[in-house]
Amino acid sequence: MTIRQLHLLGSPILRQLATPVATVDDAVRRLVDDLFETMHAAKGVGLAANQVGVARRVAVVDVGEDAPPPLVLINPRIAQASDVMEAAEEGCLSIPDIYGEVERHLGVTLEALDRDGRPYKVELSGFKARAAQHEIDHLDGVLFLDHLSAVKRGLLLAKWKRARKGQSGYVKDVTPEPAGEL
Ligand code: NI
Repeated sequence: MTIRQLHLLGSPILRQLATPVATVDDAVRRLVDDLFETMHAAKGVGLAANQVGVARRVAVVDVGEDAPPPLVLINPRIAQASDVMEAAEEGCLSIPDIYGEVERHLGVTLEALDRDGRPYKVELSGFKARAAQHEIDHLDGVLFLDHLSAVKRGLLLAKWKRARKGQSGYVKDVTPEPAGEL
């Protein structure tokens, strides 16, 4: 497994519509494993392939709960979504230190392929449903900022630009914290 570099806001691939996976082969499985490795190293709860520079419809979610176990989302599709919406603060590994309140469906039923290419269906609610919706957005080139009002988005983008001052490039290394560090 390899920790891959993260693409940050400004990298064009974050705005690309990812293409469906035709066959779940070893290369796709390696991508899934690398997404988990990279996400855990970056202390994230979800990661989409676009964020590591690969425009394929592959994402992972791990919010640290056992049921259901960490999700492998290959060609995911929201089959059903609850009418009930919930607003909560969200961040994104591709837009570090920027947070905004986003409305999401409280519950969703997903259809996707697992790591072995087998179709499955899963019902999610709460934070896990939120994380899955956020990752599926990534595969469509959508960022959480797009769900905010123009005013709020403008403020956060200005903050992002200030924080980025003097930095160039939109790809960064993920450095895992040494074991044992709190
Ligand atoms: Ni994100």
